[in-house]
Amino acid sequence: MSSLDDFFEKVITVKWGPEKKSVDIIDQTLLPGTIKRIQIATAEEIYEAIKKLRVRGAPAIGVCAAYGMAVLSNSYEASDYAGFLMSFERDKDYLASSRPTAVNLFWALKRMEDAVKANSDKPIAEIKEILYEEADRIREEDVAISRSIGEIGFGLMKELKKDEKPLGILTHCNAGTLATAKYGTATAPMYMALERGWAPEDMHVYCDETRPLLQGARLTSFELFHSGIPTTVQCDNMASLLMKSGKVDIIFVGCDRVAANGDAANKIGTSGLSILAHHYGIPMYICAPSSTIDMNTPTGEEIPIEMRDKDEVTEMWYKERMAPEGVDVFNPAFDVSDHSLFTGIITEKGLCHAPYKEAFEVLGIHS
Ligand code: MRU
Repeated sequence: MSSLDDFFEKVITVKWGPEKKSVDIIDQTLLPGTIKRIQIATAEEIYEAIKKLRVRGAPAIGVCAAYGMAVLSNSYEASDYAGFLMSFERDKDYLASSRPTAVNLFWALKRMEDAVKANSDKPIAEIKEILYEEADRIREEDVAISRSIGEIGFGLMKELKKDEKPLGILTHCNAGTLATAKYGTATAPMYMALERGWAPEDMHVYCDETRPLLQGARLTSFELFHSGIPTTVQCDNMASLLMKSGKVDIIFVGCDRVAANGDAANKIGTSGLSILAHHYGIPMYICAPSSTIDMNTPTGEEIPIEMRDKDEVTEMWYKERMAPEGVDVFNPAFDVSDHSLFTGIITEKGLCHAPYKEAFEVLGIHS
C-alpha cells in the first residue's frame, strides 16, 4: 500500500462502526489538530454531524446519509412493510432537513428510498440487508466517480504543463478526500497526477483559506501537505493578486449543486473566483459528480442557499469577539458561479462546455 493510500485510509470520511450498528466518521471540526473518529447512531446524532459539518462536502454528506439510513432502518421494530416505511420516511425527511444546498444529500436519500420501495414485497429483514448494500454501492460508486473526474482533470493539467516549472493550481474550500469517499473531486486530478508518475514538485497548489469555516486552511492544505504536494495557504482576498502574478495556471473547485444551465453553487467565495478567473483569462473548472447536477433546477437563481449562524463570522476561531455585540452579520454558506464565467464542468462521464443543458443530456444526465 502506498503512503498516499495509508493516508486516505486514516482520514476515511465515512465507514461502518462496530457491527454496522453506527456510522463511523472522522470529526472534521477538529482537524487539522486532532484526528478523532466518532460513531453516530441515532437520527439526532447523524443530523447534528451533518449540520455542524463534522461530516461535510457534498458527496460525503450523501454517503453519510445513506449509511445513516441503513443503520437507522436496522433498528426499526415494525414487522410489516407499512410500519417500516413510515419510520423510514420520518427519518429520511429529518435528515433531509439538515442542510439545504448540496443536492447529493437528497439524491442519496432518494436512492435509499427507491431501494425500499422497489423491494416492498420482500421480508423486512431482507430490505434491511438491501439498504446496507445500497449504501455501500453509493460509497463505492463515489470512489470510481472521483477517479474518472481525476483522469479528465489530469488530462487538462498535462496540456498546460509546458516546462519544468510546477503547474500552479488554485482551489477553494475542500473538495478533497475529506469531502468524498476517496480522492475528492477538485483534488482528484492532483492525486491522479501522483499516481501517473508526476513528482509532487511538478505542481504547486494554492489553497484559499475559505472564510468563515476555513475548510481550505484546515482541511485541503492538511490533505495536500500529508500527501507531499507543495501547498500554500492564502486568505481569500489574496486570490486576485496571486492570479495577477501569473502563479495560477488552472483552477479546480468542487460544487454542491449545478443547475441545468450550468450555474454552479459552491462554497461562498467561489463566484468571486470565477469573476477573477474570467478577468485574468485563467481556465477554471467545476468538478461535479453527475449526482451533483440537478436538472430539475433550471438556473442558479433557484438553488437554495444555506444561511449559517452569525458567530461563525464574529466569534469562531477568535480568542475574543471580533465585531461589536449585536451587529448584523451576513453569513451565506454558498454562492452561485454564473456558467458564463468558468471554462467547463468536469463530470465522471465527460467534460462539458456551454450550452450545458445540452452537454449534460448528451452524457445521459437527465432529470
Ligand atoms: O460547507 P461545506 O464544507 O460542506 O462546503 C463544501 C463545498 O463547498 C465543496 O466544495 C463541495 O461540497 C464539493 S465537495 C467534493
